[in-house]
Amino acid sequence: MGKIKTIGILTSGGDAPGMNAAIRAVTRSGICNGFHIKGIYRGYDGLIHNEIADFTTENVSGIIMSGGTILKSARSHEFMTVEGRQKAYENMVKAGIDALVVIGGNGSLTGAMLYAQEHDVCCIGLPGTIDNDLYGTDSTIGYDTTLNTIVECVDRIRDTAQSHERIFFVEVMGRDAGFLAQNSAIASGAEAAIIPEDSTDVDQLARFMERGIRKSKKSCIVIVSESPKCGALYYADRVKKEFPGFDVRVSILGHLQRGGRPSAHDRILSARTGIGAIEAIMQGQRNVMVGIRNNEVVYVPLSEAIRSDKPFDKKLIKVLDELSI
Ligand code: F6P
Repeated sequence: MGKIKTIGILTSGGDAPGMNAAIRAVTRSGICNGFHIKGIYRGYDGLIHNEIADFTTENVSGIIMSGGTILKSARSHEFMTVEGRQKAYENMVKAGIDALVVIGGNGSLTGAMLYAQEHDVCCIGLPGTIDNDLYGTDSTIGYDTTLNTIVECVDRIRDTAQSHERIFFVEVMGRDAGFLAQNSAIASGAEAAIIPEDSTDVDQLARFMERGIRKSKKSCIVIVSESPKCGALYYADRVKKEFPGFDVRVSILGHLQRGGRPSAHDRILSARTGIGAIEAIMQGQRNVMVGIRNNEVVYVPLSEAIRSDKPFDKKLIKVLDELSI
């Protein structure tokens, strides 16, 4: 592989607040260090279909405060195939791009890893997902903003829960991870969280009802991690059947969790990891994700970043249990 002169940036998968701040950081730090920057639109689809534009510092002016991604995003089905990745590579060479910075979550960084292996190109990942499920970084870009959005929503729902003395099941995103659910429950003073990490051998609903929350409180809020089979509707139905007499409601927060102005924490994370991506390229690093662990910028091999077993601190379950009596 020759000297890297031109860097392409793309955002892929679910948008996350702070992605724009990350695009800005990579662009400005790249230009500052003598690289040409190209923006690739619509994720990997833009690489396959040649939606590529030169980026200057002006392209990223006035975007630090906005959610979503100015580069648009997509979950590319074509890039999941060997043929799609081959096409992407041919276009990348034609566009004169020597290295890619991919801002995205688990699926997007898995794509980057396969692409790097097949075509011997430098791919640097930035952890862009609200789910916080990437291994090796304490937080992902978008996670803090979404956590705060959920807490604000729950604060509002509590007004109704208390006024009407109801049980509310509030469903939040997270894909297969319970970071958003558990921590939003702690931060909003919810009475319980139902999360995938705690579902192997305990019936979390039964445990919660047995703890007799309703004996001391007349209303309560249970945060439920999204799940195709056992989401908030499932638990609300069970309470109606197994514990009749309670006034039960469901609120599925959905995509309102993913938009909005990024928090200061996410903007700083984007700035530090964005600069970290350019530093990684200058140091000759390849195929790593830039994260932050214990307040230090770290480089995590893409193969490790996408591991599905990011440690979940089980002590957080006790924190919520003890404080919600
Ligand atoms: O990965 C981010 C995320 O918001 C998950 O929490 C959620 O399961 C999924 O994306 C929803 O994806 P989509 O917007 O494609 O429906």
